[in-house]
Amino acid sequence: MSGNQESGCLTFYVNGKKVTERDVDPETMLLPYLRKRMRLTGAKYGCGGGGCGACTVMLSRYQVHSRTVVHCAVNACLLPVCQLHGAAVTTVEGIGSTKTKLHPVQERIAKAHGSQCGFCTPGMVMSMYTLLRNKPQPTMEDITEALAGNLCRCTGYRPILDGYKTFCESSNCCQNSGAKSCSNGNSISENNSNCCQQIGKANGNEVTDDLENGHLKLFSTDNLLPLDPTQDLIFPPELIRMTESGLQATQTFRGERITWVSPISLDEVVDLKSRHPEAPIVIGNTNIGLDIKFKGILHPFIISPTRVPDLFVVKNTPQGVSVGAGCSMSVVRAALEDLVRTLPLDQTEVHRALLQQLGNLAGQQIRNVATLGGNIVSAYPNSDLNPVLAAGNCRLTVVSKGGRREIPMNKDFFVGFGKTLLNPDEIAVSVFIPVSRKGEFVRAFRQAPRKENALATVNAGMRVRFRDGSSVVDELSIFYGGVGPCTVGASKTCQQIIGRPWGEEALTAAYPVLLEEIPLPPSAPGGKVAFRRALTLNFLFKFFLQMQQKLAEMGIIAEDLRQDMRSSLEALPNDFLPSYQEFQDVLEGQPGQDPVGRPMMHRSALSQATGEAVYCDDMPKTEGELFLSLVTSTKAHAKILNIDVGAALALPGVVDVITARDIPGKKFRMFCGMNEELLAEKEVTCVGQMVCAVVADTKPHAKRGAAAVKITYEDQPELVFTVEEAIEKKSFFEPLREIERGNVSEGFKMADHIHEGEIRIGGQEHFYMETQSMLVIPVGEEGEMNVYLSTQHPTMAQDAIAETLDIPSNRVTCHIKRIGGAFGGKVTKTTILACITAVAAWKTERSVRLVLERGEDMLITGARHPVLGQYKIGYMKDGRITAADVKYYANAGNTADESPLIVAKILLHFDNAYNIPNMRGRSAACKTNLPSNTAFRGFGVPQCMLVTESIINDVALKLGRPAEEIRELNMYRGPSLTHYKMPFDPENMLRCWEECKRRSSIQRRRGDIAQFNQHNRFKKRGLALVPIKYGIGFDIAFLNQAAALVHIFQDGSVLVNHGGTEMGQGIHTKMQQVASRELRIPTSLIHISETNTHMVPNTCPSAASFGTDANGMAVKDACETLYKRLEPIRKRNPEGPWQSWIKAAFLEKISLSATGYYKGHDLYMDWEKQEGQPYAYFTYGVCCCEVELDCLTGDYRTIRTDVVFDIGRSINPSIDIGQIEGAFTQGVGLYTMEELKFSPSGVLYTRGPGQYKIPAVCDVPLQFNIYLLPGTQNPHAIYSSKGIGEPALFLGSSVFFALKEAVAAARSDAGLSGPFEFHSPATPERACLACASHLTQMVPISKPGSFQPWAIETP
Ligand SMILES: Cc1cc2nc3c(=O)[nH]c(=O)nc-3n(C[C@H](O)[C@H](O)[C@H](O)COP(=O)(O)OP(=O)(O)OC[C@H]3O[C@@H](n4cnc5c(N)ncnc54)[C@H](O)[C@@H]3O)c2cc1C
Ligand code: FES
Ligand code: FES
Repeated sequence: MSGNQESGCLTFYVNGKKVTERDVDPETMLLPYLRKRMRLTGAKYGCGGGGCGACTVMLSRYQVHSRTVVHCAVNACLLPVCQLHGAAVTTVEGIGSTKTKLHPVQERIAKAHGSQCGFCTPGMVMSMYTLLRNKPQPTMEDITEALAGNLCRCTGYRPILDGYKTFCESSNCCQNSGAKSCSNGNSISENNSNCCQQIGKANGNEVTDDLENGHLKLFSTDNLLPLDPTQDLIFPPELIRMTESGLQATQTFRGERITWVSPISLDEVVDLKSRHPEAPIVIGNTNIGLDIKFKGILHPFIISPTRVPDLFVVKNTPQGVSVGAGCSMSVVRAALEDLVRTLPLDQTEVHRALLQQLGNLAGQQIRNVATLGGNIVSAYPNSDLNPVLAAGNCRLTVVSKGGRREIPMNKDFFVGFGKTLLNPDEIAVSVFIPVSRKGEFVRAFRQAPRKENALATVNAGMRVRFRDGSSVVDELSIFYGGVGPCTVGASKTCQQIIGRPWGEEALTAAYPVLLEEIPLPPSAPGGKVAFRRALTLNFLFKFFLQMQQKLAEMGIIAEDLRQDMRSSLEALPNDFLPSYQEFQDVLEGQPGQDPVGRPMMHRSALSQATGEAVYCDDMPKTEGELFLSLVTSTKAHAKILNIDVGAALALPGVVDVITARDIPGKKFRMFCGMNEELLAEKEVTCVGQMVCAVVADTKPHAKRGAAAVKITYEDQPELVFTVEEAIEKKSFFEPLREIERGNVSEGFKMADHIHEGEIRIGGQEHFYMETQSMLVIPVGEEGEMNVYLSTQHPTMAQDAIAETLDIPSNRVTCHIKRIGGAFGGKVTKTTILACITAVAAWKTERSVRLVLERGEDMLITGARHPVLGQYKIGYMKDGRITAADVKYYANAGNTADESPLIVAKILLHFDNAYNIPNMRGRSAACKTNLPSNTAFRGFGVPQCMLVTESIINDVALKLGRPAEEIRELNMYRGPSLTHYKMPFDPENMLRCWEECKRRSSIQRRRGDIAQFNQHNRFKKRGLALVPIKYGIGFDIAFLNQAAALVHIFQDGSVLVNHGGTEMGQGIHTKMQQVASRELRIPTSLIHISETNTHMVPNTCPSAASFGTDANGMAVKDACETLYKRLEPIRKRNPEGPWQSWIKAAFLEKISLSATGYYKGHDLYMDWEKQEGQPYAYFTYGVCCCEVELDCLTGDYRTIRTDVVFDIGRSINPSIDIGQIEGAFTQGVGLYTMEELKFSPSGVLYTRGPGQYKIPAVCDVPLQFNIYLLPGTQNPHAIYSSKGIGEPALFLGSSVFFALKEAVAAARSDAGLSGPFEFHSPATPERACLACASHLTQMVPISKPGSFQPWAIETP
């Protein structure tokens, strides 16, 4: 068939079923197609931009030339359906199910407790499944690489890795029996601390077979389903025949706005491009897809040459290799790896430098589709390949109607942001990568906000050629990315060095030239100016060291690289070691059937792993359903003069626009006594405030409608963004809080020394994987509304919707099946969104769905409060702190929300573990023109305690002593009173402290670290031991109550309803365990369907780590009632079975339904008297972390983490350990990584995983040990357990303080000592600059105030 024929018909397979599609809209991506069209809702929407992996599916294609089928993990959110012709798609539903047979990847993630909220789980499963299809016995490295593009906000990844490690041939260091050498590549010797056998010993917990066997495990590897490739779907033979036949035709798809042409020959592409020079060439769609989705750039005509063979040729010649521009990064990587294996080493310098960058470029899913040509022509300023291609003398071949030409990729090639020398009608066909010549060396460098799956902050490619047999530089080529609008060359710097011998002298002369040549202005987009400039110097320095080492190795220079410099060239440690999780066994005599206290898999884990678990947006579309899209303010403070909805209403599919005027009832919500408008009517006070909402028949139509609403504003003066501005203008939400213990002035007088300091703690985006989602269905009778939503506080949503619609609460039923993560962010903000959606449903009398895009969610719904902590302390020579005066300023944003409660909680926790005799705390919620901040796991505590621990750290630095000594000296001991006069006994906290010191062998490791730091100049290690004392419960008494409703059906099955919501924390599993114990029946008989406000009314929020305490007691109460009712029957027939008792009870007219109630503790805080009993009890924990820092890049790795936690008698150790690990990891994100960036006019820049980095697999501590303190009791909570959802988050700060210690060691080498400024998060930028190396100090710093920075400091 000739290529001239046109057809818009696609044939592909999904999970083994053939799909034929005509006239697909080119804007349709595979994800919505699967979810909405095919009702395969396993793949999830997490970001829509390739950054989270929640949508991962496997794409398989038959390759004619190799006669093989290639399987790739891809992001369905960025894959146009138009590209699927001839492909087989496998989704999580296609590999196994609970109805038929589970696939081992599904079973193992669930059984290893690697699925909490489960929203990320299908994506994880599919990444791992694809890996196993390609490599049934992977290494740990393969697994971490395969999962690098998948984010999880709940688990901390350790259980996922542990579950999947079971697929490895030898799953651990030294776990092979009789191992002589460690499988980490480490030799087993007394002084090799990297070997797991040594670490086992260091735990004071010799790893012997006996102990391993006797050790209680969180999950058993016995009886796991074996991996059986014959179970897998085969690649459809029809697609093989279709591909082999070579019958192809040009395909054209015409959508509402875009025409998509898929040609089959290069001539056709050339012809199309000459007629449509502005049309992009789309293969990977990882750049253009984002343009269309997020930047609103419309490309009316797209050329997609995925089937043009010329673009995929890889041809090797003696001079080098020519790689087709259409090849994906993965194909390029495989081709280069092949060449590195076969060619002489000295010919593959460019190849290896490219491979280094390719290994870190994005995640697997992106690398499998993003093309070489796309990366080059997109000309991103921080493309990883371009600096190496340019430095490596590579050449690009392009064609057009005018013919074919070869363009050197030199300094003239990149002409500006997104621009190269290519003419608009030219097509990149291939890239020529030359073999390296004698004496030539090429290296690549890269620093990114996260070690993996993050665009580089700065990268570089450097090539040097030495004169034969000498160290004199003949050629030098240096290119940087991330320091300007495009890849830039540093030719003047090169000139400075060329002709000279490679040495200090040449280098010293080059630095000033480099700084002058790459003069990033202080307001440069992207910020981090000093860091980026420092990186340009540091990379050159690293290159210098590498080449020095090389020249020494070759015997050209006599001097070896200095011993203390060698580690600067090594990568950070990356080998996982076995982790331990220790917990108490159940009490002797507990019946085997009683699950309380035993590790039990999350009750939905299997359905989550198979994609069967239903989340809000997985619910099928209802008849006539509309989609709602919000219109938000673009101004930080302005009067609304006019809202023009005319253009929006005229668009196809748009049904209505909802404004404040449409609200029939209350137009605002009141939080902390202050009103917050649902939709702004007259004035907006932040960018992102909701003004109106467009409802339309489809999501794209609603979005286009929202974009067409025109709002006219009148700017208002007096903008307030930072806490300093708020303090100056006295812009606060009342009340300001204050608390004092002892006499602070006296305490200062008593002190040997006084010290003042401050610390800024940045905010934190919740980044729950499931964005805010809801569906409101009007029943159509008596005003009834059924609301399906993802909220932690169903009753608040119910009451708010009723008030907004001016109907009684009894007409509104809220249903919460499960939530894909919440972390405090799905209470107040969800309520407001639910009210707006309900108004739309009420007005249109149709069902309305709202699912926020990730960017909208981040913009609208606020975050954790950034806090500025200022302190003055008095301390004695021996380290005892006599007085502390601390002020906390939290940036609350434009509305009060729960901010006054948060700043109050700050003052209740600022003592942490320390008995400082004289202390005063003052806190204020600053009212600013930023989006309103809200509750987030810990509710202000993680911020306030960081200030407290910084105080301790400063004293330690002042006195030159280890911080743990100062901590220990100041701790509460014996029966104590908090600063608000609540009695407590810190014994268990002290036990955790001692146990953590013992488990982490702190004494020995302190010595090792000192030695390490002495022998390494630019790699430093640090260790920190941090305690926490965390109050559990609500200080507002009525919030501590809970209710339950338990039904027993005639077949003996039980339905438990309670007021808690399941958001991954496993509350339903624990309630099932409670009911199982109380009714003495197996958990398999107990079901929990959803949280429902008509089943259990007047619920309290699932928050404050109190969900299990309160609801557990209510479920227990209901079950006790029922069990008692059965007593006469049980007595008559003690042997049962249960089913016979139930049958008899029904016949004897005994009610089989009971409510349960728990009144809760009468907690309170009297701020007038500054005393109270705001908590039921305290949960205690201690964490020890050790990190290794690369001082030249600021990158670090947590080498080891040991956590000891007192959580009483755990109801479910696997769930509680999961909470500890997940919270710890979220804390690591807060304190070292996650940065919200706002423009000087208050616009949030960071609106997706591309710009906002949360911890990924690469951030898991290499060894992560959790020990639950044995022998503890808690009389204040159910079954002697303790709340654990929030406390462990703060323990992530031990990574922060370990980093600070590593930085202090580097500063000491630079001649600096004592306390220093180190704000949170301790990003690579902050860590690198704080190290104050000789190079960093060369970077000129612009005077603050002399320029407008790209981003503002919010705390
Ligand atoms: C989540 C994510 C993470 C990423 N991380 C990194 C990273 O760490 N490092 C990095 O370097 N990059 C990264 N990228 C960028 C990615 O590498 C590029 O988007 C990709 O290489 C572009 O290739 P594509 O085939 O997808 O281009 P497309 O989006 O299909 O096209 C991009 C542009 O290139 C042009 N083009 C494509 N092919 C040709 C051709 N043959 N001839 C002429 N013009 C052509 C098109 O006209 C279009 O303008 C990331 C992207 C995403 C989405
Ligand atoms: S939804 Fe596709 S990667 Fe996030
Ligand atoms: S379980 Fe991974 S995001 Fe919740």
